[in-house]
Amino acid sequence: LDNGEMRTPPMGWLAWERFRCDIDCEHDPKNCISENLFMDMADRLSEDGWRELGYVYVNIDDCWSSMKRDENGRLQADPKRFPGGIHKLARYMHDRGLKLGLYGDMGTHTCGGYPGTTLDKIKIDAQTFADWEVDMFKFDGCYSNATEQEKGYPLMSKALNATGRPIGYSCSWPAYQGGLPPQVNYTQLGEICNLWRNYGDIQDSWDSVLNIIDWFFENQDVLIPAAGPGQWNDPDMLIAGDFGLSMEQSRAQMALWAIMAAPLFMSNDLRTISSGARSILQNKMAISINQDAMGIQGRRILKEKSQIQVFWRPLSNNASALVFFSRRNDMPYRYQTTLSKLNYTTGSYKIYDVFTEKTMVLKDSTSFVVSVNPTGVVMWYVSAPAKLNHHQFYKGGRL
Ligand code: DGJ
Repeated sequence: LDNGEMRTPPMGWLAWERFRCDIDCEHDPKNCISENLFMDMADRLSEDGWRELGYVYVNIDDCWSSMKRDENGRLQADPKRFPGGIHKLARYMHDRGLKLGLYGDMGTHTCGGYPGTTLDKIKIDAQTFADWEVDMFKFDGCYSNATEQEKGYPLMSKALNATGRPIGYSCSWPAYQGGLPPQVNYTQLGEICNLWRNYGDIQDSWDSVLNIIDWFFENQDVLIPAAGPGQWNDPDMLIAGDFGLSMEQSRAQMALWAIMAAPLFMSNDLRTISSGARSILQNKMAISINQDAMGIQGRRILKEKSQIQVFWRPLSNNASALVFFSRRNDMPYRYQTTLSKLNYTTGSYKIYDVFTEKTMVLKDSTSFVVSVNPTGVVMWYVSAPAKLNHHQFYKGGRL
């Protein structure tokens, strides 16, 4: 969507995967969906180095609203859990250089059973969000059919635009229509949404991450052309920092989300996150690969019998990213190849290992070995072609 928003994939925090529809503030005050939770996360984003890296959205998901619209037919926040209301929360974010995201549902009810936005309510709801100074809006698709969605998603896009407030627009539409043509029209999505959920919800497990990775790369030829500045495929939240992933798996998710030019919305508890998970999510080179200005989504280029898969993304300044991903479960695998086997043209290249921060120079024809841990990745930033100097030449060849 060409509204000037999200020219690189949006980054921030989203409540759903970790905090779901916990509304029991009486017994679980620290984790329930309430303004306190979002203010806590905003404090962490601004005080723990996240905001400077680009993680600026604080996004509310389902279960924020009151069970009833107000006397003017407007949505309203649950008065007990959001006593200050959404507008005040948006101010809280803006005062800290952050942005607020809100959630709604194209249908009679949200998936959690809260008031939905039926076709006749689209205009008034868009205006309410703009009045509250909301910066991003996720439009879920429970409790509506394909015909209603076909009207509702474009209508909401128009209605948000008509408010005059720039609001990033996230559409769950394709996820409700199987994610593939002919049911899904990616040309149209790119025109009306800034990002869209193509596929099912992520859960806190490696199984779930693998399932998502497989779907996105099996369908890469359909998905890659749909992505670009202002329009992104969304494989769902980052779950590094939760309970389901090892450090290797967390690096794998971060690396592949960067290759996919995916939105980086963490759903974890930033108040208690481990330093290991934090350093993966705060990896500067992984983030800068994700945020590359060309906005070209990367692809899987090899699926080896050894269960090593290789991924590649073209980047600005003649650079590129490579990810070697192990689907093995036995031991670190020594994968041997050359850059020319990975389609690199003649020349020598500067290699920066994203997670070990080591560098070397490699000629396209030089055989090298990467050791890839089970369920883990090796990720490289490859800057192209570097002039060889003697020092690098003699140091090169090993990481
Ligand atoms: C389904 C969506 O795909 C999830 O991301 C989340 O928003 C839930 N609905 C909320 O009910």
